[in-house]
Amino acid sequence: MNEIDKKSLENAKKLFSTGDINHIEIGTTKGLKQIHKYLFDGLYDFAGKIRKENISKGNFRFGNSLYLEEMLKKMETMSEATLKEIIDKYVEMNIAHPFLEGNGRSTRIWLDLILKKNLNKIVNWENIDKKLYLQAMERSPVNTLEIKTLIENNLTDDFSLESFFKGVEASYYYETDE
Ligand SMILES: Nc1ncnc2c1ncn2[C@@H]1O[C@H](COP(=O)(O)OP(=O)(O)O)[C@@H](O)[C@H]1O
Ligand SMILES: [Mg+2]
Repeated sequence: MNEIDKKSLENAKKLFSTGDINHIEIGTTKGLKQIHKYLFDGLYDFAGKIRKENISKGNFRFGNSLYLEEMLKKMETMSEATLKEIIDKYVEMNIAHPFLEGNGRSTRIWLDLILKKNLNKIVNWENIDKKLYLQAMERSPVNTLEIKTLIENNLTDDFSLESFFKGVEASYYYETDE
């Protein structure tokens, strides 16, 4: 893990240990920007800022920057009543990919807040294999079944600080190259 990622992981842990997480707006673009800013403030000059460039990963082009704001606004109206609806919303946010970097790490925390609020559960990220997760996310713009099944089978109601710490550690590990 490089120095920026290490510092960012410390920020992610602080978000929970300080209780600042309780001031994040849930399920909105504003909330996701708050999380991104918290994780990457002073590390990336675009912390908390919506990108103006187009980006892609593998063969997938994320939301066109020209329509990004519109896409994000529409997404806020998506329902969060069931696990399926919440995963659909998460997948839409991944398709939008509003930041130049750090989408995965910030959006997984955003997802946990939505799940906790609506289903009283969070994801046990530690239990989800990195390779399977990334495959499921690559597949998700076409079919959300894989990521839905993966998350459905790995939910927990352990809301201890340790549980959140383990979650962010696993989430940061997804983004390293090892
Ligand atoms: N080919 C792909 N198609 C769609 N989504 C992808 C693809 N590859 C990775 N992802 C998603 O994008 C995330 C990585 O986005 P990125 O902005 O680099 O975030 P971070 O810097 O936190 O890793 C992954 O965690 C995964 O959820
Ligand atoms: Mg990345």
